[in-house]
Amino acid sequence: MDAKTTNNKSSTLTVGNKNYDFPVYEGTIGPDVVDISKLYGQAGIFTYDPGFTSTASCESKITYIDGDEGILLYRGYPIEQLAEHGDFLETCYLLLYGELPTPTQKADFDYRVTRHTMVHEQMSRFFQGFRRDAHPMAVMCGSVGALAAFYHDSTDISDPQQRMIASIRMIAKMPTLAAMAYKYNVGQPFVYPKNDLDYATNFLRMCYAVPCEEYKPNPVLARAMDRIFILHADHEQNASTSTVRLSGSSGANPFACIAAGIACLWGPAHGGANEAALKMLGEIGSVDRIPEFIKRAKDKNDPFRLMGFGHRVYKNYDPRARLMQKTCHEVLSELGIKDDPLLDVAMELEKIALHDDYFIEKKLYPNVDFYSGITLKAMGFPVSMFTVLFAVARTVGWIAQWKEMIEDPSQKIGRPRQLYTGATQRDYAPISRRK
Ligand code: SDX
Repeated sequence: MDAKTTNNKSSTLTVGNKNYDFPVYEGTIGPDVVDISKLYGQAGIFTYDPGFTSTASCESKITYIDGDEGILLYRGYPIEQLAEHGDFLETCYLLLYGELPTPTQKADFDYRVTRHTMVHEQMSRFFQGFRRDAHPMAVMCGSVGALAAFYHDSTDISDPQQRMIASIRMIAKMPTLAAMAYKYNVGQPFVYPKNDLDYATNFLRMCYAVPCEEYKPNPVLARAMDRIFILHADHEQNASTSTVRLSGSSGANPFACIAAGIACLWGPAHGGANEAALKMLGEIGSVDRIPEFIKRAKDKNDPFRLMGFGHRVYKNYDPRARLMQKTCHEVLSELGIKDDPLLDVAMELEKIALHDDYFIEKKLYPNVDFYSGITLKAMGFPVSMFTVLFAVARTVGWIAQWKEMIEDPSQKIGRPRQLYTGATQRDYAPISRRK
C-alpha cells in the first residue's frame, strides 16, 4: 500500500522537558501527515481530536477532496467529467479497480452486476416482518444486514474471490432492496429487475412499474438518476465510510459492514440531510420567510441549522451541489414543472446566505444535499426515500474503501483511546449503606 514518502521530513513534539520526533509523510496531493502511532509508547500521552477534524485515519488512493478549492476526484478524475461523460457502473469499476474500464472490461462488469440484481426469494418474506409505515432507512438497515443470512458463500473476507462476489452482490442488490423498501412502503407488489435495462433505468422501473400497465422508461430521468448515483458514490473518510472501515477492521462480513454504514448515513448531519433539507424548505414555505430562518440559523441559542448547508471539508462550494442544481433544472424542465416553490425558496435562500457575513465568515456553502431533495421529489420519490437513494449510490464507495482496507497489509483493528475524566477508583458500598 505504501505510496507515502517521508522525504526526510519529521516533526518534533515537546512533552514536558522532552522532545519526541515523528516521521512526516507526503501523499501525492493534499496535506502531509505526522505519524504519531508511536506517541503513546514513547511519551505516554494520547492525541485528542473529537470529531477527527485534524486526523487522517488511513492512507487511501480512492477519493481526494480539496475543500478550499471545491475539488472532488475519484481515482484522480474530476467529478464534473465523470458525471458529464461516464455512467454509474463505469464509476463503480473505477472506484473498485482504480482505472477506467476498457470496453471489454466494462461489458464484463455490467454483465456481472446485472446478473446479481435479484435477491433471494425469501427476502420478500423478510420484508413482511416490517410495519408498512416503517421508515425505508430502517428497512434498509435490517434487510442489508440480513443479506449475510442468505449469502453465506461470500462472507469469508480472507478469500479474495468471496470479497469480490460480495462486492458485486452489494452493488447489484442495493437498488433491488431499495425499490422493495419503497414498494413495501406504498403497498404495491415488488417488481423484479430486468437484465436488458441499464442500472438506473432498472432501478426506476423496479420503483415505478405496476402490473397493470407497461412501464415506459424516461431516458432523461434515468440519466439524471444515474448522475445522482455518480455524485454520491464516494467521498473520502466521511462518517459512514469511517463506520464501514471500523466495522470491517474487526473482520465483520461485508454485508454487516454496509448495514453499519447505512445506519450512520441515516443521521441528519450526514446523509439524512437531504430529507431534512427538503423538510426545511417546506417549513420555510415562501421566499419572504427566509430572513426569519437565516436569523435562526445564526442564533447560537437556536439548534436550527440550514440543512444542506455547510460541510466539514468543503469551505467552498461543494462541486456536487453545482451538478445537483443543474440536474434539478433538467428534471424539472423534462417534467414540465415550471415553477417549483421549493426550488424558488432554495435558490433565494442560497443567494441570501452566500451574501450574509455569518455564512461567509464560517465558509458555509450548499452541499450535495441542498438540491438533491427537490430533484428526487420531482422524480416522484417520497422524502423518506431520499437517504435510501444516497445509500444505494454510496454502497460502491463503502465497498471500495472496505476492500482497500482489507487488502492493506498494515491493516489492524481500529481501537481509539480516550481522555478519561470520570470517577477515580472507589470501593463498592452495599445498598444498605447508601443514603
Ligand atoms: C454530507 O463528510 C462528508 O463528506 C459528508 C458528505 C458525504 O458525501 O459523505 O459530504 C455528505 O453529510 C453532507 C453534509 C450534510 N449535512 C447537512 O447539510 C447538515 C447541516 N450542516 C451542519 O450540520 C454542518 O455543517 C456539518 C455537520 C455538515 C459539518 O459540521 P462541522 O464540520 O462539525 O462544523 P461545525 O458544526 O463545527 O460548524 C462550524 C460552525 C459552527 O458555528 P460556531 O460553533 O463555530 O460558532 O458553522 C456553524 C456551526 O454552528 N454551522 C452552521 C451550519 N453548519 C455549520 N450554522 C448554520 N447552518 C448550518 N448548516
